[in-house]
Amino acid sequence: MATALITGGTSGIGAAFARALAERGDSLILVARNPDRLAEMAIELKERYAVDVETISADLSRREDVERVAERVESAAQPIDLLINNAGFGLRDKLLAVDVGPHDRGIDVMIRAVLILGGAAGRAMKARGAGTIINVSSSSGFIAMGAYSAIKAWVTSYTEGLANELHGTGVTVTALCPGWVRTEFHERADIDTRSIPDYFWLGAEPLVREALVDAAAGKVISIPSRRYAVLMGVARLMPRRAIRSVSRRLSSGSH
Ligand SMILES: NC(=O)c1ccc[n+]([C@@H]2O[C@H](COP(=O)([O-])OP(=O)(O)OC[C@H]3O[C@@H](n4cnc5c(N)ncnc54)[C@H](OP(=O)(O)O)[C@@H]3O)[C@@H](O)[C@H]2O)c1
Repeated sequence: MATALITGGTSGIGAAFARALAERGDSLILVARNPDRLAEMAIELKERYAVDVETISADLSRREDVERVAERVESAAQPIDLLINNAGFGLRDKLLAVDVGPHDRGIDVMIRAVLILGGAAGRAMKARGAGTIINVSSSSGFIAMGAYSAIKAWVTSYTEGLANELHGTGVTVTALCPGWVRTEFHERADIDTRSIPDYFWLGAEPLVREALVDAAAGKVISIPSRRYAVLMGVARLMPRRAIRSVSRRLSSGSH
């Protein structure tokens, strides 16, 4: 039986991963800040799927918390077969902002924690000759919507680098690049989504199903749904000038 560790496993995409993996019988380790929500999720999963669930309350913007989670990830005695680096949040603060606190937290949670946990998982899995790492990036990383796009561009590029370092070791690494997904993400970041047409919204469950199929196939970049696969395919062919112009319009429409 496999064991999966999911950061941000209490809500949205992370919770959908937790339910999908519990359904197939995997043991789970959920990481998030809110201990009540961790406990609720653990009870739900144990009752519905009769799987083992461990919880770790950790704030991944704090280095000591990340180190604590990394130790669990690298444990040889209790190995982890699948790491899902998912915890994250929307970041719409201006790049000209004097207070870079929100940017700092974004970089800490969505870059530094991903780097540290990815390294810990990569080393442990390489030593065993098997394992799967999924980094939840974003289609935003292909466009130019401020700090969030820059962070997710890093996550996608980092994933490709890690996949290369682990090539031929039996360990696969996948960047999941979703479009807009209905979760708590937008409300938490105070993002007005009224101008986003229904057509562009994805459900977390089908997204995760497709991501798991892509990861099992060893795909390094996963862009679930035909809609977004086509859109991102077109985006990759467009001149960056045109991407910047589309990004400007999207930024002004979604704030
Ligand atoms: N929703 C979208 O449209 C969309 C699109 C593309 C990519 N994504 C990416 O998908 C990932 C998951 O987002 P979501 O949409 O599922 O959002 P969500 O519903 O708001 O869930 C976020 C999860 O991350 C955890 N988290 C947030 N900050 C944390 C911290 N400092 N330390 C530990 N855990 C933390 C939250 O738990 P606590 O609050 O208890 O810590 C929660 O479990 C993110 O990386 C996001 O960038 C989302």
